[in-house]
Amino acid sequence: MMNKLIARTLPYFPKKFVWIFSKKYIAGETIDEAVLASKQLNEKNMMITVDLLGEFITNMDQARANKDEYLQIIERFEKEKIDGNYSLKPTSFGLLLDKELSCQYIREIVEKAASYGNFVRVDMEDSKCVDLELELFRKLKAEFPKHVGLVFQAYLRRTLTDLEDLMDIHTEETPINYRLCKGIYVEPKEIAFKDYHEVNEHYLKDLEYLLKNKVYVGIATHDRKLVEGAIKIIEENNIPQEQFEFQMLYGVTPELRSEILKKGFKMRVYVPYGKDWFGYSTRRLKENPKMANHIIKSLFIKG
Ligand code: FDA
Repeated sequence: MMNKLIARTLPYFPKKFVWIFSKKYIAGETIDEAVLASKQLNEKNMMITVDLLGEFITNMDQARANKDEYLQIIERFEKEKIDGNYSLKPTSFGLLLDKELSCQYIREIVEKAASYGNFVRVDMEDSKCVDLELELFRKLKAEFPKHVGLVFQAYLRRTLTDLEDLMDIHTEETPINYRLCKGIYVEPKEIAFKDYHEVNEHYLKDLEYLLKNKVYVGIATHDRKLVEGAIKIIEENNIPQEQFEFQMLYGVTPELRSEILKKGFKMRVYVPYGKDWFGYSTRRLKENPKMANHIIKSLFIKG
């Protein structure tokens, strides 16, 4: 009840107030701030993936501006020798407004990253984007086999079938590279598992399928149970370190992050930044009022 109330009213709170909780989870508004946060994580032995905030735009001028900023990010991050890669959300480039042009913009970004031997991960958005994003990934993977990856959401009922369908583009020389997460959007029960245990069960099923099939996986979760389940699968199947990494969001569960690092596993932190942090934070809350728990905690726990 309280969560829902906060989620509904937060967009009307003063921006400064919203920043109090958001700043823990967002690297800042500028490339300089994103570079700084990334360097600090690199110094602590963590890789990063940087993301420019600005999804679900309303016109193609914004799409072009986002594309131009990504090209700048790549130039800057490569120049600064940051140990990291790039994540993007296709709706930031107008996927739902002008499919052809948005795919052209994303292709340009992947081409730029590939020219440095680097990698772009296409984030997975809500269910109306899934088919479009699978199609986009297939195209990009055909042109840039080593430089592009995708995200899968374990809460979607269709996910294991999608993973199986895409195995035709997985080869030993150019293995597929996915991030596996639970999924953040609120979806109807007909298409997504709702129960915590059911989502976790499917997460581990998908993960085991991918690892046994030699797919590279970014194991993206802050859920201790899933981390333990993943390590069990890795150990029981002798999965080599070269085939996976753990991933977490900036500012979330740093203790669990340190424990994973101490065990000698690779860790990548997702670093979101940009002027659209207000929209991002309040949109996330409206989508998923459970996030209000984290906000309430971060308002009272300093750090
Ligand atoms: P769960 O939700 O059970 O959280 C476990 C614990 O982690 C919580 O109890 C809490 O303590 C903490 N926690 C989790 N999220 C938190 C937060 N935001 N703030 C503070 N504490 C938090 N989703 C998607 O649909 N498409 C995508 O492309 C991505 N990309 C992505 C990248 C990376 C690197 C990560 C880690 C996550 C995503 N996600 C995502 C989000 C993902 O789908 C999921 O919503 C969140 O990771 C929360 O799920 P957990 O597995 O952490 O478990």
